[in-house]
Amino acid sequence: MPIFINEYNKEFHLQSKGSSYIFKVLKNGQLGQLYYGKKIRHKDQFTYLLQIPNEPVGNASFCYEDDNIFTLEVMKQEYPSYGTTDYREPAIQVSQENGSRITDFKYKNYKLYKGKPKLKGLPATYVEDENEGSTLEIILYDEVIDTELRLIYSVFENYNVITRSVHITNKGKQTLNIERIMSMSIDLPDSSFEMVHLDGAWIRERNINTRTLKPGIQSVDSKRGTCSSSQHNPFIALKRLEANEDYGEVYGFSFVYSGNFVAQVEVDHYNTSRVQMGINPFDFNWLLEPGQDFQTPEVVSVYSDNGLSEMSQTYHEIYRKRLVRGPWRDKERPILINNWEATYFDFNEEKIMKLAEKARDVGIELFVLDDGWFEGRNDDTSSLGDWFVDRSKLPNGLGGLGAKIEDLGMKFGIWFEPEMISKRSRLYSQHPDWMIRVPDRSPSHGRNQYVLDFGRREVKEEVYSMLRRVLLDAPISYVKWDMNRNMTEIGSSGLPAQRQKEVSHRYILGLYEILEQLTSEFPNILFESCASGGNRFDPAMLYYMPQTWASDNTDAIERLKIQCGTSMVYPLSSMAAHVSAVPNHQVRRTTPLETRFAVSIFGMLGYELDLNKLSEDELRKIKDQVNIYKEYRGLIQNGRFYRLSSPYSSNRVTWMVVSEDRKETILGYYKILSQPNPAFERIKLKGLDTNQRYKINGYDEVFNGDELMNVGLLLEPEYMGTVFTEKSNYVGDFGSRIFNIKAID
Ligand code: DGJ
Repeated sequence: MPIFINEYNKEFHLQSKGSSYIFKVLKNGQLGQLYYGKKIRHKDQFTYLLQIPNEPVGNASFCYEDDNIFTLEVMKQEYPSYGTTDYREPAIQVSQENGSRITDFKYKNYKLYKGKPKLKGLPATYVEDENEGSTLEIILYDEVIDTELRLIYSVFENYNVITRSVHITNKGKQTLNIERIMSMSIDLPDSSFEMVHLDGAWIRERNINTRTLKPGIQSVDSKRGTCSSSQHNPFIALKRLEANEDYGEVYGFSFVYSGNFVAQVEVDHYNTSRVQMGINPFDFNWLLEPGQDFQTPEVVSVYSDNGLSEMSQTYHEIYRKRLVRGPWRDKERPILINNWEATYFDFNEEKIMKLAEKARDVGIELFVLDDGWFEGRNDDTSSLGDWFVDRSKLPNGLGGLGAKIEDLGMKFGIWFEPEMISKRSRLYSQHPDWMIRVPDRSPSHGRNQYVLDFGRREVKEEVYSMLRRVLLDAPISYVKWDMNRNMTEIGSSGLPAQRQKEVSHRYILGLYEILEQLTSEFPNILFESCASGGNRFDPAMLYYMPQTWASDNTDAIERLKIQCGTSMVYPLSSMAAHVSAVPNHQVRRTTPLETRFAVSIFGMLGYELDLNKLSEDELRKIKDQVNIYKEYRGLIQNGRFYRLSSPYSSNRVTWMVVSEDRKETILGYYKILSQPNPAFERIKLKGLDTNQRYKINGYDEVFNGDELMNVGLLLEPEYMGTVFTEKSNYVGDFGSRIFNIKAID
């Protein structure tokens, strides 16, 4: 078991595949952090790493009357409490009936076991066999408030991953208020890092941002209630200043949660970096009555000493294999057509069938009926909450339409937005108090809709029974679960005043409960999550739904950035990517059909345009694309992804996927704008087998693996002369090339 315990010295050494994580019990009974980084051999004690001063530290406060040395001010801690001698942000703050906010969680004992526990009501990574990992629970206890705190650590045998979460139980007689409870906190001994995070907005999600750490707090967060957000993804990495894609130390922290979060680094006056991640304490308070407990969501930490690329690949693998669940985890995903950008709300059965027939002709396997199929839904001003089919559009109901689509040899899928309610709906007229709001203020709307109070049992039950009926009444193989607004005026008529700050978290717990129930009752349905595109591209959603609609922006050039940023944490198997019409509906750009495909092929492929408006030639091309994707989708879904050049810093973008046995590769090359008389270009590939010989489409040469990785693949020259020929414009504006690199031995 890769967890060593020195009982006498009370030191704990966790080893994942390539990292070590060491902490120990301090003189005051709290935990001190000693080391997190590249794996080191175990020895009995690392106590010297405590960094204890030799004389009283100036301007500090001290814990014991007869001791002018022991101050938490200089200590690297593992889960700092509020209110004694440490002035940095605590991991936990609990206020008590007498007004005190001071806690002192002291080491009591530990529990060590094989495997990894499930987290009550929360998504988390898992093991399939208890030998895949080990768990250490450190039990801390505060005698004054009679409360137990369990720090739960799991390490995986085969991944460079350590997961953390915290569980608190009130064993006393008073009611406690949890004002802050981080899922993890760690003090790293220096601050020579850049913080990497993924930020953006609707239709420009997950851009990669990097900033050098400075003294003070730097953070990203969500206060939006319903989602982790496209503004900031629940992820940060700390990379060494010199680290890059392939080189250097990187620590990744990814939060398995879909609501309000904070991810922050506080650099203190001794250059210690305190990294914390958890539910956002802003507007949060949880009443913990005697006997009650509270479980925080999980943080997944990845350590890499080979740059960002290895960190991303570790996340991809663990999320693909040990976060996503159900039969669709390992099954090849269907190529779909979605009618949203083809028809928006304006459709009927005839139109849908025409689109479906064309889709079948080009080999598409699944038809997804998007928003607008339920009673009265002709625009976004009404009907959310009334999940009954609109017979004026679909006279044969969803059952009839689904059967017709299945007769074409395709599968049928459907869109829902179950968390929302329109004021113009039957549900609202029956239950006006079911939405999130406060009694004395008028509620703001978002897209003319309001958020249902998923913290309330009766709301969840009613919504669930509507969904269930639809799913049982029609042959539905796929569900797109959408969510299109943030919370405002947060309040619940189902909770007393002192529990109003619980509403956002209770909402997310309610959402997870419904998703758990639904995916368990309908395990064979492929679920895709969506939140105005990528507002909820987080690991928690992947636990329930193996893929996510990456963005409402379907422009191929914009998608280069969005998909590249997303790949920092999330696998290609989680990224739904569609070929859409030109001019593009979000940016009005016209890009070649080949490029739209070449970008979407690096994701879970779909089409989202009116195929009836395309020429025979375009349809032929799509048929070819669909066949190509069918050949390579296993590789795309399960291969190892490499970012070769970045859309953030270059006019040319390259990325590739390599199969596990390194015998097959797909390489994507994209050019934003052509330049006249450019330099020759070589693309150095990664991840190939040095001793293997490879063939590449478009080249007569046979290449060796080491040659492709060290010399690079020399591309055809672009226009350099004075005479323009067909060959001159090898790629062109918004152009692309897909190379298939196959081992021949
Ligand atoms: C937002 C989604 O991101 C779109 O793909 C589409 O489903 C619309 N909602 C429908 O209202």
